Amino acid sequence: MNRPYDAVVFDLDGVICHTDKYHYLGWKSVADDLGIPFDETVNNRLRGVSRMESLEIILEKYEGEPLSDARKDEIATIKNVRYRVMLGDMSPADLDPSVRATLDDLRGRGLKLAIGSSSKNAKFILERIGLGGYFDEISDGTNISRSKPDPEVFLKAAQFLGVEPAKCVVIEDAVAGIEAGVAAGMYTVAIGDAADQGAGDAKLGTFADLSQVMTDLGC
Ligand code: BG6
Ligand code: MG
Repeated sequence: MNRPYDAVVFDLDGVICHTDKYHYLGWKSVADDLGIPFDETVNNRLRGVSRMESLEIILEKYEGEPLSDARKDEIATIKNVRYRVMLGDMSPADLDPSVRATLDDLRGRGLKLAIGSSSKNAKFILERIGLGGYFDEISDGTNISRSKPDPEVFLKAAQFLGVEPAKCVVIEDAVAGIEAGVAAGMYTVAIGDAADQGAGDAKLGTFADLSQVMTDLGC
């Protein structure tokens, strides 16, 4: 079928599920340990960026002795261990039924569906919420060397799918993720913080609004 878009590439954290709140709690706990102020404003800057880049942003407000690279690795590992404990408590009940229904609707239209996430925990999270094996392709933190706003993760997703980037729609809650989608030459749809900040070619109030956006795009 000849239509404007053939695939939808979804960010994971803060789009498919609310693991963004667990990222926040994980970073908040290590920031508290180090006496660093940390709030939602700082947290929003971490959306879409890699674990180590997130730590560097948090450390902008650190006033102690300089930290060695080994110590930074240790802090990032502690955050990830605490984060993984929270992920371990997730189950298919953490997948909003309207998200699942919307994904099924798009799949039923013949669109290819992929994940484009900076996270190295993406496959684990998808398993936890009952979406292991659901997506046609997964591009994540394990197959990229540059995180959003670099377009690499989305370009890899398109490559894995065998779809031209210009035929892909990206769904993102991160301003950095919308920038990555634009740099990849994709149509961008914002939700959550990215929508609040006015980013994206289209904006979603709720995930389920995506069905209408895709209809409006001729898909
Ligand atoms: C992104 C999140 O999806 O993944 C970021 O928005 C996070 O906040 C990044 O830093 C890396 O995640 P992980 O799970 O590899 O630490
Ligand atoms: Mg996100």
